[in-house]
Amino acid sequence: RIPIIIDTDPGIDDAAALGLAFYRDDLDVKLITTVAGNVDIDNITTNALKLVTFFDQDIPVAKGMDTPLLKPALGNKVHGVTGMDGYDFPQPTRRITKEHAVEAMRSLLEESEEKITIVPIGPLTNIAVLLLMYPQLKNKIERIVLMGGSLSGGNVNGAAEFNMWADPHAAKMVFDSGLDIVMIGLDVTLKARIGEELLSKCPNKSADMFNAIFRHYIDGDMESGVVMHDSCAIAYLTNPELFTIERRLVEVVTDGPAGGMTMEVFGKDKTNVSVAVGIDSEAFQEWFLGTLNKMI
Ligand code: BDR
Ligand code: CA
Repeated sequence: RIPIIIDTDPGIDDAAALGLAFYRDDLDVKLITTVAGNVDIDNITTNALKLVTFFDQDIPVAKGMDTPLLKPALGNKVHGVTGMDGYDFPQPTRRITKEHAVEAMRSLLEESEEKITIVPIGPLTNIAVLLLMYPQLKNKIERIVLMGGSLSGGNVNGAAEFNMWADPHAAKMVFDSGLDIVMIGLDVTLKARIGEELLSKCPNKSADMFNAIFRHYIDGDMESGVVMHDSCAIAYLTNPELFTIERRLVEVVTDGPAGGMTMEVFGKDKTNVSVAVGIDSEAFQEWFLGTLNKMI
């Protein structure tokens, strides 16, 4: 089982990604850290607690950075008011850890005998702070498999994908860190869609919950499918063969109108990221349904 930390801002597609990760026998979710992104940090952290309660998971949740490094937190209209509207979740029975997300990651990495994979599916603020404060822990990180970026235009504007745009300075620090990075960006995630038809094939409580919250998600619709950006990072971990990966040199633009753009640099004899450039969309849907079938 691959030991992972999921750094997240639930968020409708984050909720799906977390649920799927919990029920994969090949993944071991050691810690969930929250970060401001889709909505504010309080709603996000409450949502993460609601999800571990709903799925009855005994996984620590640590609250993280409430604003990006330099920009104000701007939020994302795509996920509604609370970030997980539309389903009547039971009140969370779990509590957050005493430690801040960055400290929770530090202690887990320090104490772990095996290297851990970090899976950021929100803005990269927590990860940048971790690397800044504890650079010596880089050798405890197996790799970073992140949802974010794009080589083919953005979703916030023509240039930038949301997670990169929300905290471009943090993103730059992570991309320039020298760590093994896999970028699962819009080039593939926009082709990973789940709609009503697929969910209706699975008569369980998780499918009902997804059905309810997906309806509040502006990214796609229930007929053609809503976009499962964050679940792609989870699918890559367990089934990398669903994706085509190429090594590229990618620079994060930090300022100006194209801030948050992940720009490919041509003609240099080096690379810094493995980029997902292709996805088998049907096989992704099968993976999603297969995992959903194992859920409550
Ligand atoms: C990313 O931004 C958020 O809307 C999603 O949760 C995903 O992590 C897609 O651009
Ligand atoms: Ca997200």
